[in-house]
Amino acid sequence: MTDLLTMVDRTRLPEHIAIIMDGNGRWARERGQDRVYGHYEGVISVREIVDGCGEIGIKYLTLYAFSTENWNRPKAEVDALMELLVNTIRKEVDDLKKNNVRLHVIGDFASLPDVCQKEMSEAIELTAMNTGLNLILALSYSARQEILTATRKIAAMVQSGALAVDDVTEEVFHRCLNTSDFPDPELMIRTSGETRISNFLLFQLAYAELYFTPVHWPDFRKQNLYEALLDYQRRERRFGKTSEQIQTDSAPHV
Ligand code: IPE
Ligand code: IPE
Ligand code: MG
Repeated sequence: MTDLLTMVDRTRLPEHIAIIMDGNGRWARERGQDRVYGHYEGVISVREIVDGCGEIGIKYLTLYAFSTENWNRPKAEVDALMELLVNTIRKEVDDLKKNNVRLHVIGDFASLPDVCQKEMSEAIELTAMNTGLNLILALSYSARQEILTATRKIAAMVQSGALAVDDVTEEVFHRCLNTSDFPDPELMIRTSGETRISNFLLFQLAYAELYFTPVHWPDFRKQNLYEALLDYQRRERRFGKTSEQIQTDSAPHV
């Protein structure tokens, strides 16, 4: 099998990739196992993709690990997921440090169990000086909540007179989001064949290229990532312009 990595154009990589890691439960069920087994195996994919993104020079990787809606799952599954999160961070933090990966968390941090908050905060602090890949975990995350929280912040600034209504720009709004420190993702990948956004980065994905693959997350490997990158590189990002305009803009000027 050809290594797809050799075909990826390193000069045209997205700066930020966002992934909805989906299909763990079905993957486990297909093997006659409990859904939680799929979550365990999914951690191997996380490690592999964090590695792959670091190696190739991606600057930001956001992984949707737990949505606010996921709190509605059976308690045993939620508990297992939180425990897995704590154990994984505990186990991986040394490697993150070594591999120059900087950890961030977005979402409703306060709603996570105390032990989880503590482990995350420590890992964030321990990796704060790293300058390689920024790994952003979306935990207890809801894009609608994020947008509402930003709106409240802006409303409060307007009410106090710190900000004029006419100064509420896209940029100001962006600065009030959880993701204010990161550029918008150019590429969003969702595994498992589902073709929806599920309350993920609704504001930030406005012009992202969306890539859907039937592969379940526990089977997702570096070659699948390269496949997504190749697909991304075959697309023409027009941002409302015509194809002719894009081609003239990118033609070398003599
Ligand atoms: C994604 O896999 C992991 C989380 C949402 C935490 P799922 O658990 O949603 O797996 P499926 O979609 O039920 O197969
Ligand atoms: C989205 O997956 C959330 C995560 C991957 C963490 P879900 O499996 O929860 O999404 P829906 O409910 O099928 O849309
Ligand atoms: Mg799912």
